[in-house]
Amino acid sequence: MNTEIIKQRGMVLLGCGKMGSAMLQGWLNTGIPTRAVWVQDPHPSEWLQGLDGLNLNAGLPENPAIVLIAVKPQMMQSALPVLRPMGNGSTLFLTVAAGTSIATYETALGAQTPIIRAMPNTPAAIGQGITTLIGNANSTPADMQLAEGLLAAVGQTVRLTSEAQIDAVTGVSGSGPAYVFHLIETLASAGVAQGLPKELAMQLAKATVAGAGALAMASDQTPGQLRENVTSPNGTTAAALQVLMDSETGFPTLLNRAVSAATKRSKELG
Ligand SMILES: NC(=O)c1ccc[n+]([C@@H]2O[C@H](COP(=O)([O-])OP(=O)(O)OC[C@H]3O[C@@H](n4cnc5c(N)ncnc54)[C@H](OP(=O)(O)O)[C@@H]3O)[C@@H](O)[C@H]2O)c1
Repeated sequence: MNTEIIKQRGMVLLGCGKMGSAMLQGWLNTGIPTRAVWVQDPHPSEWLQGLDGLNLNAGLPENPAIVLIAVKPQMMQSALPVLRPMGNGSTLFLTVAAGTSIATYETALGAQTPIIRAMPNTPAAIGQGITTLIGNANSTPADMQLAEGLLAAVGQTVRLTSEAQIDAVTGVSGSGPAYVFHLIETLASAGVAQGLPKELAMQLAKATVAGAGALAMASDQTPGQLRENVTSPNGTTAAALQVLMDSETGFPTLLNRAVSAATKRSKELG
């Protein structure tokens, strides 16, 4: 990644809660110095307050290389005006907010502003996120490379072909970690219902989800093939999958409904 431009012109983070901090941590690890970073956040965490050299709630630079917008969508209208002086120029705006359209930023920041809308997810906190990106007409290939380089510090990146895809992406990977956490919770509870001690059931559920996820990522085989590999006819896994793959009450219908509800909510927020 070309961090020189950031070292020279600086970067601004508007909002630095869970997602902003996960990203900032990744960027500091890649060698961006704290003195090149300006953070605006009304209640900065202890971690932020302890970062030596960070420009915390200080006057903003005039022409930073990039501004990361990481406030909640509900705060957007009140938060954006402070960024307006940096719009319509060469500062790239990278936003990770759910459900706020590129058009909203163009209206708030100026129609000529380069804007890239990204949808990350929380495994970014341990460098294992996946972030999708789409830029507006003003964003250049160099802008896209800068954004991808920054986001690669917290996991995989994927370019979208249209902004409309972001709602479904939010339903799959943006909100998806919560579905998997719930899978862990319910798998552990099901173990307890079968007589296992709580802690053991949770240990088994966490390690199973993490291990299966890692195997799915590392293997050349599809998740479907990996599933078949561990399913012997009439065996224990087959008995469970008969329940989980039921066309009316199983995962296919349930996840379809869940992802569709999240996608619909993302569209409503937009
Ligand atoms: N967390 C996720 O899984 C995830 C995934 C994908 C996308 N996102 C997006 O990332 C964005 C941030 O989410 P988050 O989970 O990091 O939320 P968060 O932890 O609440 O962080 C938002 C931060 O912005 C601060 N803030 C509020 N008003 C502000 C203002 N006017 N100027 C500057 N900072 C302000 C908040 O301070 P106070 O707490 O004092 O209000 C808070 O520290 C959201 O738009 C969300 O859609 C999150």
